[in-house]
Amino acid sequence: MEDFIIDRVDNITLLPPRSGPADTVAGLLSEISRIGTDQQHGGYWRPVFSTAEFDLRAWFLAHAAKRGLDVTTDRNGVIWAWWHTPDGRTGNAVVTGSHLDSVPGGGAFDGPLGVASALVAVDILRADGVRPERPLVIAVFPEEEGSRFGVACLGTRLLTGAIDVDRARTLRDRNGDTFAEVAARSGIDPSRLGPDPQMLAQIGTFIELHVEQGRDLIDRKQPVGIGSSILGHGRWRLSVTGQGNHAGTTLMTDRRDPMIAAAGIVMDIRDTARAHPGARATVGRLEPVPGGTNVIASRVDLWLDARHPDDEVTASVVTTILAHARRISAAEGCTVELTEESVSRTVDFDGALRDRLSLLLPDAPVQHTGAGHDAGILARFVPTAMLFVRNPTGVSHSPEEYVDDNDAEAGARALARVLADLLVRAG
Ligand code: GLV
Ligand code: MN
Ligand code: MN
Repeated sequence: MEDFIIDRVDNITLLPPRSGPADTVAGLLSEISRIGTDQQHGGYWRPVFSTAEFDLRAWFLAHAAKRGLDVTTDRNGVIWAWWHTPDGRTGNAVVTGSHLDSVPGGGAFDGPLGVASALVAVDILRADGVRPERPLVIAVFPEEEGSRFGVACLGTRLLTGAIDVDRARTLRDRNGDTFAEVAARSGIDPSRLGPDPQMLAQIGTFIELHVEQGRDLIDRKQPVGIGSSILGHGRWRLSVTGQGNHAGTTLMTDRRDPMIAAAGIVMDIRDTARAHPGARATVGRLEPVPGGTNVIASRVDLWLDARHPDDEVTASVVTTILAHARRISAAEGCTVELTEESVSRTVDFDGALRDRLSLLLPDAPVQHTGAGHDAGILARFVPTAMLFVRNPTGVSHSPEEYVDDNDAEAGARALARVLADLLVRAG
């Protein structure tokens, strides 16, 4: 593992880390409240390896240094900040953390809440005199949202080998730059991207704290919940091809307009999801090519996000959508192609670990989530659990996402309680 990104960070526009009284989660988040604001959509736009995300990394590194944590940034751009045991052992580490990248127009809490809570949890453990018998590591994972390169949880997929590294290198962002090119510009050697079995083997347990992305905790009147499972989900790109042409000279009867087919496909996606109880399907991104007001598009790309607890049902929803999309496109004289971008199967978290958390946090309800997380990737390799913190708006992936200051501190205390138990008890 090598440490390169911190040397590469320039153009830092941080507020200085607060000193003096103990950091709070709300105080930490206020330090980064101006980083990566999305001027166009409101909220935040913090794509992986952008200036905003590097500024957030620098903020995290400053806070890790303030706590004397031993920081490395690995070959995939994952930051690991170690609180070593006195004997310096590295195995069976308790890892906590989350991500700092965001969706376009995202909220302030999805990702950073877990990172800030981990820092405060370290402070609480130290103030309580906890002497860890296992190392504690705070991790910051890159590209959790997949909002730059299309594949969700790219950092943990690379770490675990859950994505083919050649494919990862050739993923492109909206500017057409490949992941390999952007990684190289960010100080990461693209030839060294890929699985890190040595680091993975050092993780004994992973706990991710995250803002709740729905309404369950509001209804249950509880500030903190315990995760049981993550809904299986995936992303597919549908490319509809027609005939680019002139908006004024092409008769309505002479058109092969992929936008018309795309409109029909979007409506069909909603209807197909509704016909499968428990399914969720969304088109949140649609791009006409070349995209001119007086231009009939030659192609329209649209992105499908589909989710269902049963992975076979998700597959069947996508198969049905493709069959319908072919019919709808043919009726407009167009063709359609479907490309899978990323698929995450339904994940049930480790039952014994979940029960252990329930004993430690008896008031916290156990809840499943429809949102994806790096915890879902890591759960296939190490015992993993999640904590959720109440979001009074029930809204996420939107500027309206929110966490009350008191709930944020309750979340950090709950995390510290769980970590304390894991750090000083066997297993
Ligand atoms: C990530 O937040 C996702 O669920 O897509
Ligand atoms: Mn997240
Ligand atoms: Mn998210």
